[in-house]
Amino acid sequence: MSKKIEWYTGFVDRKHRVKSNELDVLFRYTAKKGINSIEAVGRLASESSVGTWTTLPGMPKKQIEKLKACVYKYDKEYARISYPLELWEPGSVPQLMSGIGGNIFGMKAVKNLRLLDAEIPKAMMKEYKGPVYGKTAIRRIFRKKKGPITSTVIKPKLGYTAKQHAEIGYKIYSGGIDCIKDDENLTSQRFNRFEERVKLLARARDKAEKETGDVKDAYPNITSGTLKEMERRIGIVHEHGFNYFMIDVVLAGFTAVQTAGELARDYKMAVHGHRAMHAAFTRNPRHGISMLFLAKLARIMGVDQIHTGTIIGKLEGDKKEILAMKEMLLSGKVKEIKNLRMKQDFGNMKGTMPVASGGLHPGLLPELLRLYGTTDIAVQVGGGVLGHPKGAKAGAKAVVQAIEAYKQGMGLDEYAKKHRELREAMEKWGYLKPV
Ligand code: 3PG
Ligand code: 3PG
Ligand code: MG
Repeated sequence: MSKKIEWYTGFVDRKHRVKSNELDVLFRYTAKKGINSIEAVGRLASESSVGTWTTLPGMPKKQIEKLKACVYKYDKEYARISYPLELWEPGSVPQLMSGIGGNIFGMKAVKNLRLLDAEIPKAMMKEYKGPVYGKTAIRRIFRKKKGPITSTVIKPKLGYTAKQHAEIGYKIYSGGIDCIKDDENLTSQRFNRFEERVKLLARARDKAEKETGDVKDAYPNITSGTLKEMERRIGIVHEHGFNYFMIDVVLAGFTAVQTAGELARDYKMAVHGHRAMHAAFTRNPRHGISMLFLAKLARIMGVDQIHTGTIIGKLEGDKKEILAMKEMLLSGKVKEIKNLRMKQDFGNMKGTMPVASGGLHPGLLPELLRLYGTTDIAVQVGGGVLGHPKGAKAGAKAVVQAIEAYKQGMGLDEYAKKHRELREAMEKWGYLKPV
């Protein structure tokens, strides 16, 4: 007679009703051939909470029972699993992800697994402070009534010295762009040291602010090899009077992002979140972690604005998901969208602004703004400014003109007749959608 060696069925209970103090998680999965659904989902709940691959005769049963996750709803493709809050260390995203985003992605029982979203209960939401500014940055930092916040990442991505970087930055500021952004792979290389770049860019900013009368800022990339160095760089940015710093949220990791969020709060600064590497786990719709959930984590960790995709630019991103994500980021409360997003109440946590970036140029801006709205959005244009036939300042002007045309309800071709820089940009790119 064979002995019972597994206990995964103990993690499935269709009668369970999710309690207000449980974390409710939505997964998409493909069971491995030969494994039925209940085996697959039971194992997911087990491995992501208290279990392992076999029964454990010596365990304190009563005590452990209280901590078990429960699959309370599932079909062949989607599963909902609830987790008691006691499983999670208060205020630790890395520890949270060690469960719902940990070992389970490598289990043989599933061919694919995707963490789509998790509804964070009130008690857990309270452990996180969220952004300092969020969408209020438009008013509180830039003293503008309405967005978008505009920025330009200087291209080529790498190669300029700090001095050249600041000189180009000045031209872009003068052309009307609000912020200069570092690229995701520009940190503190030998040819362009972080401190030098921040120092010189601060001078360029001051000069441009004086001349234009507008508030100018920057997203210097503080991502570094250690938390200690990262903290030092945030201090440097602050000392030079910038209100933002940028962090590569995936590359630096959750611990770094939470630390950055706290420092931003101490310094009253805003965090610009770049998402490089996210596509390694967000792109395959059947496997990995959704961008929407990554964005939710970014919001609770204190990221004020995060790249969410453009729909129409050079980077992959599903329109339905992007719009659901944008609404989730900006709202206090959102409704469930079946198999895409869970309902969520953020309490009074500030919203995180979406950043549209990647392959944008003036010709695409009306369509972008139609999708995202003109108010709560940061628009980032790199190649579409630096690639302007007449240079960086003209490129910046063309972006501002395209936004203005849209706000006035005028077509770009019409507006371009009286605006030279926009006309020149349109002659080069028209309405091209880059791939
Ligand atoms: C791990 O974290 O490495 C796994 O939990 C291994 O556990 P196991 O030996 O029970 O499979
Ligand atoms: C970014 O880091 O946001 C990208 O480098 C955008 O650059 P692009 O506008 O040239 O695509
Ligand atoms: Mg980039």
